[in-house]
Formats: sequence, structure tokens, C-alpha cells
Amino acid sequence: MVPDLPRVGLVKILFVCLGNICRSPAAEGVMTKLVTEAGLEQVWEIDSAGTIGMHAGNPADVRMQTAARKRGVALTSRARQIWTADLDRFDLILAMDRSNFGDIGLLAGKSRRAEVALFCEFCTRHREIEVPDPYYGGPEGFEKVLDLLEDGCAEILRLWREEKRWNPSTNA
Ligand code: 4NP
Repeated sequence: MVPDLPRVGLVKILFVCLGNICRSPAAEGVMTKLVTEAGLEQVWEIDSAGTIGMHAGNPADVRMQTAARKRGVALTSRARQIWTADLDRFDLILAMDRSNFGDIGLLAGKSRRAEVALFCEFCTRHREIEVPDPYYGGPEGFEKVLDLLEDGCAEILRLWREEKRWNPSTNA
């Protein structure tokens, strides 16, 4: 089931993968590009994190940056590890794979505010359940990641806009 997105106020969305150097920073970049193009950057807060802290402080993997740049997506974030407070701070936390989803669940207390879901629940043109980890593979893996992210992120934005019926030109 696709979770409900908040209808009013700031939308806070966090993308999560293992290392926060490939999939989730790319998701952050793709979502940021779409939201900026829609003129909604003041309304959306977009971030990413990893379930491990091994790469904390590092920029996105160069292979991911290169593939994203070819699609007009700049990856500017630095890796960080998810922490318990994120579960209360964000509205929606999207895990790239089931392992990430399980690890987020281990962090989450009963009172968490965030809805947690698998990213691929939002994909409309792909049947994958997970965004596959490209780290140990070739360039095609990074392209696949971006294909899935562009699909799901467009749907996330479409759903939010449809539900809220918020048009920047009429709500300035
Ligand atoms: P990510 O990819 O979870 O999409 O950032 C990986 C990054 C690092 C490692 C594995 C996957 N690693 O094993 O260090």
C-alpha cells in the first residue's frame, strides 16, 4: 500500500540505503530536481541517510555522481547515518531495499511519527520491489537505480500535488 503523504505544511522526506553514497543520495538528488522544477523547494525538505555510518562525511560515489550528472541531477550531499530522531522528524522515510527497511524498523520506537515504506511502492513503470545495490556491479547498475528513482520520485510528487491540489502560481 502506498502511504498517505501529508496534505499540509512542509513535507519532510528521507531516503535511506545502506551506505548513503549510492542509492539514497541519488534519490535525494532526483527528488530535489523534480521539486525544484515544480517551484516547491520551499515546501519540501529532502534528505538521505545510510543505515551504517561507515561512509559518513563522504560525498556520493563517483560512479553514481557521473551517472546522475548525465541526467541533469547533481549529487551534493555528504553521507550520514540515520538515527532515532529521524523517525520523529520526517513524515515519510523510504527504504531502498528490504534490509534497509528492517534496519529502520529496529530503530523505530512505538511513537514514531514517520511513515516508513519501500521506495519501489511508488514506482509505476517498474515491477521491482527493491532498488538494487549497485556498489559491487558495473555501470548498468547505476543506470537501473536512476531509472527506478526517476519513476518513483515522479509519482511521489504527483500524488502529493494531486492530494493537496496546491499550485505555486495560485498560492504565492
Ligand atoms: P548504497 O551502496 O547503500 O546504495 O550507498 C553501498 C555503499 C557502500 C557499501 C555497500 C553498498 N559498502 O559495502 O561499503
